[in-house]
Amino acid sequence: MKIAMVGSGYVGLVSGACFADFGHDVVCIDKDASKIERLHAGIMPIYEPGLAELVDSNVRAGRLSFSTDLASSIKDAQAIFIAVGTPSRRGDGHADLSYVYAVAQEIAENLSNPAVIVTKSTVPVGTGDEVERIIRDGAPGLQFAVVSNPEFLREGAAIGDFKRPDRIVVGAEGEWERGVMTEVYRPLFLNKAPLLFTGRRSSELIKYAANAFLATKITFINEMADLCEKVGADVQDVARGIGLDNRIGSKFLHAGPGYGGSCFPKDTLALLKTAEDYASPVRIVEAVVRVNDSRKRAMGRKVIEAIAEAGGGEPRGKKIALLGLTFKPNTDDMRDAPSIAIVQALLDVGAELVAYDPEGMEAAAPLMPEVTMVKSAYEAVTGADAVVLVTEWDAFRGIDLERVGQLVNSRVLVDLRNVYDPAEVRAAGWHYSSVGRK
Ligand code: UDX
Repeated sequence: MKIAMVGSGYVGLVSGACFADFGHDVVCIDKDASKIERLHAGIMPIYEPGLAELVDSNVRAGRLSFSTDLASSIKDAQAIFIAVGTPSRRGDGHADLSYVYAVAQEIAENLSNPAVIVTKSTVPVGTGDEVERIIRDGAPGLQFAVVSNPEFLREGAAIGDFKRPDRIVVGAEGEWERGVMTEVYRPLFLNKAPLLFTGRRSSELIKYAANAFLATKITFINEMADLCEKVGADVQDVARGIGLDNRIGSKFLHAGPGYGGSCFPKDTLALLKTAEDYASPVRIVEAVVRVNDSRKRAMGRKVIEAIAEAGGGEPRGKKIALLGLTFKPNTDDMRDAPSIAIVQALLDVGAELVAYDPEGMEAAAPLMPEVTMVKSAYEAVTGADAVVLVTEWDAFRGIDLERVGQLVNSRVLVDLRNVYDPAEVRAAGWHYSSVGRK
């Protein structure tokens, strides 16, 4: 099957490469000529484990190509995916749909063969109707259908998520487009991944509801963690104790510094806006957004308290080492990373910051020019008055704490991801604080 993927960012590129790997003939399109040029040279625009290899093998097999020319690339495609960005609109938090509509317009101007247009970008309810209207008005008489097919890819695990999904959601109104989408996903379908057909509006809402629910789960356990600290309970035991109930489930119950990334913050906000527009309040999600926002900065206070409790006094002039900056491991993505608010809170009290992140420093540097970026975790901790584990990269899980202890100025460790064993670390002479544990 011939597939055109419009937008070669995170979602478009991963989806395009995976479709090609299924045996489809895929062209990934992007307006950014330098991105396409780099892709031709095998250089990925993002860090995602396994992506470069997947792209390379499918390009070699002749199933995957890249282009800046939408008109010629969509000519005989049976399915045209729209996978462009829908960032938060500046000022009001609504999803910015200008890129999606511009692609719809361009498709209308250039498509002459029957095709299914698939919206993969995360778009508010009703966007599919508007895309359909744009194409119908721009290309009267054309045989086409617009379907919604949200993605549920986690950064850092995107290829696995694509190839072994919990479900594939397709919002399609007619038989023809359902048939085309079944063909697109046949390899997964044969692998028994549930293909859930719904109406288009339901599918659009499923994406937001899923992300808002997961954000709620995280925020819930984060507040439980705060309570655990007050009452002397252990949030990891609490999470396990509730997670073993199948109705609750054990995933997304890791307490931490708050959720960040390219999806949860933007999508929860956009859902609030949709709810507002329809005068149907989603108060739980409103609370989640507020609680998560204030939590990130509160983590800075946690560090300040740890220094004081360890007898270090005021944070002014103290050297604090940050291990990890990205919003989660295995990505170079800094969007809405908790580290940004933590850095600001610590700079505000006059601390001196040094940081190391395995992949994120290039993206982080312009966001936090006052922070000194160094080449290794051991370099970061040298002479530090406190070490803060912000992102749980594997490299930090296995760090040699004895060596770190020799290098620091004082043994204060704030573990915002609960990766270390409190008893072990304390036995090694550290003043240790974590999230939701005594
Ligand atoms: C998320 C969704 O999981 C994915 O389905 C959707 O398509 C895009 O958004 P992603 O943003 O890549 O994916 O990361 P995810 O692994 O979901 O983590 C999001 C944030 O929540 C991170 O900041 C992470 O640290 C945090 N998190 C996650 C927790 O604090 N605790 C958890 O238990 C899980």
